[in-house]
Formats: sequence, structure tokens, C-alpha cells
Amino acid sequence: MAVSLSVDYIKDFIRPHEWAAMQPLVTAAHRQLHDGTGAGSDFLGWLTWPADYDREEVARIKAAAARIRDTADVLVVIGIGGSYLGARAVIEFLRSPLYNSLRAGGPEIYFAGNSLSADALSEVLALCEGKRVCLNVISKSGTTTEPAIAFRVLRAYLEKTVGREEAARRIFVTTDRSRGTLKQLADREGYETFVVPDNIGGRYSVLTPVGLLPIAAAGCDIDALLAGAAQAMQALQEPDLTKNDCYRYAAARNILLRKGRAVELMAAYEPRWAMMSEWWKQLYGESEGKDGKGLFPASVIFSTDLHSLGQFVQDGTNLLFETAVLLGPAQREITVAPDADNGDGLNFLAGKTLSEINRKAFQGTVLAHADGGTPTLVLSVDRVCEQELGYLIYFFEKACAVSGYMLGVNPFDQPGVEGYKKNMFALLGKPGYEDRRAALEQRL
Ligand code: PA5
Repeated sequence: MAVSLSVDYIKDFIRPHEWAAMQPLVTAAHRQLHDGTGAGSDFLGWLTWPADYDREEVARIKAAAARIRDTADVLVVIGIGGSYLGARAVIEFLRSPLYNSLRAGGPEIYFAGNSLSADALSEVLALCEGKRVCLNVISKSGTTTEPAIAFRVLRAYLEKTVGREEAARRIFVTTDRSRGTLKQLADREGYETFVVPDNIGGRYSVLTPVGLLPIAAAGCDIDALLAGAAQAMQALQEPDLTKNDCYRYAAARNILLRKGRAVELMAAYEPRWAMMSEWWKQLYGESEGKDGKGLFPASVIFSTDLHSLGQFVQDGTNLLFETAVLLGPAQREITVAPDADNGDGLNFLAGKTLSEINRKAFQGTVLAHADGGTPTLVLSVDRVCEQELGYLIYFFEKACAVSGYMLGVNPFDQPGVEGYKKNMFALLGKPGYEDRRAALEQRL
């Protein structure tokens, strides 16, 4: 498969014996994962999902997506965290961050319920005006506040404009198989439902119906996405870290963290990767940031951010390492043309493609950052396509699980997320939170 990790630019930062010292930890993490003996082993469904996903449900997803593409001008995808980031990341990566303007067929796709912003939701409502609208509400628990509020608002809008019966045909619900208020509501109203598997947590769920319905509605080939993940599942089973790029990535992260690097900066040279970085940040931040441990995952798009954060990376506090993401050929190449009077002085670039120039920007950057004391791992993806992205998603998920086990945390829970929710519910007067409310209000 044409996804590979290069450690050439960290040679000066990690010595051979340091890699060797990681192998026992990698082997132990590999066993914990594959034997199901590690923490959070109830959430390992993603590990074999590419082989054992429900074919009948995927067929239903494709049928629903085809209906949405045929009958809707706008699809609003409602969800937050793991129930939002993956779908948006895949659509923007495979199609474009400008998907809504550039798409050839299919609905405009907007995302709602991923904040508590009145303006953001009002803007989505405004974009729905006068258009044929479908909703896909996604929530594993079925109770998360942000998507629940957005769904209440958008459902009311839909029912008001097309009536309750027609609205029921345009609403698709992705949630637990049997539990939760969203499932009850869906059953009562007769919405078509898709299942978030019990044993797959939100941030590992992009290849389940959580991601697949919106991705298919954007016209992407979900069979190829799943096939790429299946290929990764087969290819990334070797415990020897010298033969497994996924484990080498996990090991490098742990070595660099132990050497005082507190931040992993994902640096992509293509804007289409920006939302993939957001997905990756949630995956790694929520999986590893606990018990006072973990790397802080951050991201930049170069060369854009070489004109802002690049200064810090080159010259600022020495606390990070980079993971550069390099993508294969541009989908629409541009070549710099010669200019008779060379008024802008750019004729030295004449005949060069923008991708060639971008590659030189990468090479110049990686060497400059090494000189400044920042090591760079390089992840190369040969082609922007469903198959390679499916492979890459599985690669990141498995590396995250192994890296978390090497770190000694449970990579599948998120106890820290509850803190703000409890305070918010208390401050909003939710029944059952009276004592906390009194205590908090004294502190405000
Ligand atoms: O990764 C996670 O588990 C979280 O980010 C959840 O996906 C997020 O909180 C949304 O939860 P739910 O799908 O239950 O609405």
C-alpha cells in the first residue's frame, strides 16, 4: 500500500538503541490489543470492523445516500466530536474543503450541532431556506446536548415547511441499536435508523454508519474506503516495529514524548488535509490526554502557517516535533508559465508545477526545522483516493491504540469530557444538579 512513514529526518534525534528499547513495549501493547487484555477492551470493535461490518446495513446506507442525492438540495449533518469530525474530514479530503461550491451533483452538505453558537445554527437554517432539505442526526448516546438542541431546531423547521409525515421521510438517524431518547424518538416518528456499534467509541467510528452515510451522500465510494481499511488491517499486524510503520509511528511518538517533546504538530502541505488534522487531534487528544500524560496534538497547514506559526516552530520554545503529511499528485495541476518581460522575477520557476514548488517548500522546511531543533516524521500518501484514505484512517486508529497502551492509559475512555458537562447542566438548572449549582454559583 502506498502509505508509508519515513524516519529519515529524526535520525539525529532518536538513536538506534532507543528504537530497540521500545520493542518490548510495542510487543506488549500489540498483545493487549489483539488479545483484548488491555484497558477499554469493550471498545475494540473497530479493530476487525473492516472485515466484519454489516454488509446489509452498508447496502441500506448506499440506498439512503442515493435517495438523498436524488431528492435533496441540502443535507444537514448533526453531530459533535466523534459523531461529526470523521465525516467532514473525509468529505473535505476526498472532495474539497470547497465541496459545496465545486460539487458536481449531490446536495450541499452543512454540519450543525457541533457547537452551542446561535449564529452558527441560524446560518445553517438560512442556507436551508427554500431548498429541499434532509437531516442526518448522529449521536451514539442520543443525549448529547449540542446535537440534541440543533436537531430540535432543525426538525421543527422541517416539520413546519414540509409537514411531519414528509419530514419523517427526510430524517435519517444514526444512534444506538436500542437505547437512548434519540432511538425512541426515531421509532416513534418512523425515521430510518442506522446503528452505532456498541463496541466502537465515537472517535473510532468514522468507518461505521456514523461517517458512511454523509460520506456516501457526498458521492464518495464507501466500498473502496472500507476496502482500504481492510487492507491496512491485514498489513499492519506485524509486531516487529522495524517492519510495521504503524507501530514505528506509535514508538516514535513515545520516544519523543519521553525526551521532553510535549506537542506533536501535524503539518500538512495541502489545505484539503485541514479537517483530517481536526479528526486526528480528537482521536489522539481524547485517547491519550489523561492521567496527567500524553502528547498535545496540534496542527498547521504549510506553507500557509509558515507565515505565522512557522516562526515559533523554527525558533521558539523547543517543545514539539512535527509529523508532516505529504500527498501524492495534485488532482488539478498548475504549471508556472514563462513571462516575456519577467516583471515579477519568477521566470526561474517557469515550467515548474505548483506541486514541485510545494515539494521544495517541504524539503526546505524540514531541513530548516531540523537545524532549529525540531524533528519531523514524514507520512506519505501516494494518491488522494478512498482506498488510501481508508488505509490511513485504520493506520491512525491502530497507532493511537498501541501508542496509548505504551503510554499506560486507557485509549478508549474520555473521563475528562464529563467535567464541563456537569457544570453546564448544573448552571442551566438541570434537575438532579442542585448542590453542584449552588457550589458553582458561589465561585462565579
Ligand atoms: O469520541 C467520543 O466518544 C466523543 O467525541 C463523542 O463522539 C461525542 O461526545 C458525541 O457523543 P454522541 O455520539 O454520544 O452524541
